[in-house]
Amino acid sequence: MAHRESLPALLRVLNGERLDPPPIWIMRQAGRYLPEYRELRTRAKTFLEFCYSPALATEAVMQPLRRFPLDAAILFSDILVVPDALGQKVWFVEGEGPRLEPLLPLTEWKLGEPEKAIQRLAPVYEAVERIKAGLPDGVALIGFAGGPWTVATYMLQGRGGDKDEARLAIYQRPNDIDALLDVLVETTAQHLAAQVKAGADCLQVFESWAEGLPPLAFQHVIIEPTRKLVARLRSLGVTVPIIGFPRGAGAQIAAYANETGVNALGVDTQTPADYAFEVTPEGMALQGNLDPQTLVVGGEALERAARDVLIAFKGAPHIFNLGHGITPQASPENVARLVEIVKGGA
Ligand code: CP3
Repeated sequence: MAHRESLPALLRVLNGERLDPPPIWIMRQAGRYLPEYRELRTRAKTFLEFCYSPALATEAVMQPLRRFPLDAAILFSDILVVPDALGQKVWFVEGEGPRLEPLLPLTEWKLGEPEKAIQRLAPVYEAVERIKAGLPDGVALIGFAGGPWTVATYMLQGRGGDKDEARLAIYQRPNDIDALLDVLVETTAQHLAAQVKAGADCLQVFESWAEGLPPLAFQHVIIEPTRKLVARLRSLGVTVPIIGFPRGAGAQIAAYANETGVNALGVDTQTPADYAFEVTPEGMALQGNLDPQTLVVGGEALERAARDVLIAFKGAPHIFNLGHGITPQASPENVARLVEIVKGGA
């Protein structure tokens, strides 16, 4: 049994400890703002091929860690490997984002089998093993998947952008939506459990499209599926902490944090820290929530915003992060400065 003090700082905070300075990692910390990532990316023809290459995925994870003293690594993959593995056509259009053959125009949705999907995702688990073997001491490894509703919106509409058609289907085709969410819950649970078995120390569920839902629909497509996902993970023997990130949920972070069983809450950019602190269970770790735009601008705006976040979350077990993913326009120098500010304390 490891000593409590030898646990990575990120895991200590997830267990409810308050650390000063707080551990820090950056959502989408591997990616296009790094010139070495853009170079590496050219070695695979498609983005999915890149994701399914354990060697390339491992190298992408290591790149930000060589530059910055971060407290966590996150698996390099994508939330859309799940629909891909379930047999839906997924591709990425340069400069535009993901595309899928959408389910909504079809009268009958043929959904794949979770067990088969997990077999196809074997290269992802091999990447987790390789990453784990190469990580420095003290750096925690985060596994991840998309939340069931977020992945469902991409499967339904075939792209990002506004989610009106997917929201309409909640009312028009409730039984089909339930069947889709059930398949996603089971596949996602098995996908996350396999990442933990391969070496992930904790998990994050990216519910990036939690916005725009009234409370009844939020219960139906976010709370219930997430509660089932967490319960299924526990029934599969997964004991590691789970961070839920319901981006855009607004006041409904209260229900999300209290009713789904997640252990920590990712707080998005728009949410005031004191509100998150007030409506979450006593001692729950909060992660967030610097505005990603400040990493584009840098300078005084970054200094002020970073210190504001440090101070705002002082009462809670806090993991410093952004309120959403870093953008390709961010500069690595600004990220380096941010880590310095956070490690130096407020
Ligand atoms: O360090 C890391 O976090 C990288 C791993 C990672 C990627 N995607 C790589 C990626 C993670 C954690 C994700 C999650 C993801 N993917 C989410 C949830 C997080 C969020 O930002 O809300 C979502 C909604 C997706 C779906 C997705 N994949 C989109 C919308 C896009 C296009 C937009 C964009 O940022 O380019 C992708 C492509 C993608 N996923 C890229 C990367 C590095 C860029 C593609 C490339 O490099 O060619």
